Amino acid sequence: MTLDRSEQAIARAAADRAVPRHVAIIMDGNGRWAKARHLPRAAGHRKGMETVREVVRVAGELGISYLTLFGFSSENWKRPETEVKDLMGLLRLYLKREALDLHRQGVRLLVIGDRARLAADIQESLAEVETLTAANTSLTLIIALSYGGRAEIVHAAQRIAEDARDGALDPASLTEDAFAARLFTDGIPDPDLLIRTSGEQRISNFLLWQLAYTEFVFVDTLWPDFDRESLLSALGEYGRRERRYGAVSA
Ligand code: FPP
Repeated sequence: MTLDRSEQAIARAAADRAVPRHVAIIMDGNGRWAKARHLPRAAGHRKGMETVREVVRVAGELGISYLTLFGFSSENWKRPETEVKDLMGLLRLYLKREALDLHRQGVRLLVIGDRARLAADIQESLAEVETLTAANTSLTLIIALSYGGRAEIVHAAQRIAEDARDGALDPASLTEDAFAARLFTDGIPDPDLLIRTSGEQRISNFLLWQLAYTEFVFVDTLWPDFDRESLLSALGEYGRRERRYGAVSA
């Protein structure tokens, strides 16, 4: 059997034990991609959506168990109304076009964030796709929408305060695990690898609690240009890192 170039790269990545269980991605650079081509920003987001399809497919093939994508931040609501509308339109399109394909690929979809701020029809579609794919076991795709890390932590703190007030929790015995169980990501392991595209090197309020021991890989590639090889190269970089979790090396 002859392997093509990307299959060889996948085999190499697997051999390097470079396949992390959970990859999180800050998809950045759609606007700059469009600007460089004298296109409207919406064209960059549209191409970015194609990249999402490709990356989800490759992540599944590689045996990544969890992929979290930062689709829309709580701060993104401050963008011009037309751009917010374009992004929401793309999300609608993605859900409509991809639901069955995701299901066929064995992908389970989960959404984290303040979904109450999303339009009612989007909330409904999200719930439908989550239900459709709930029993799938190949890849869990987590899309962060109207998501902010600090807001998520405050939300968890509110739930803890309520439980303490109701006598269901003793504040003195609160553990990190019990706190994490009140985050949107309850039951999902923390990311092993965070990738941010477009050369920016910031967390931008993404998964603040969950990224405590995550390896960060920043790449210059703009999100619409990010492809299979870019993902494999980031995984290769991850595979060369030594994770110590605060301990000394052996
Ligand atoms: C950053 O580019 C990207 C976003 C704000 C949103 C990501 C959205 C997509 C990839 C489209 C579809 C998404 C889903 C989940 C179906 P930017 O606009 O900040 O780029 P810039 O920094 O170059 O201006």
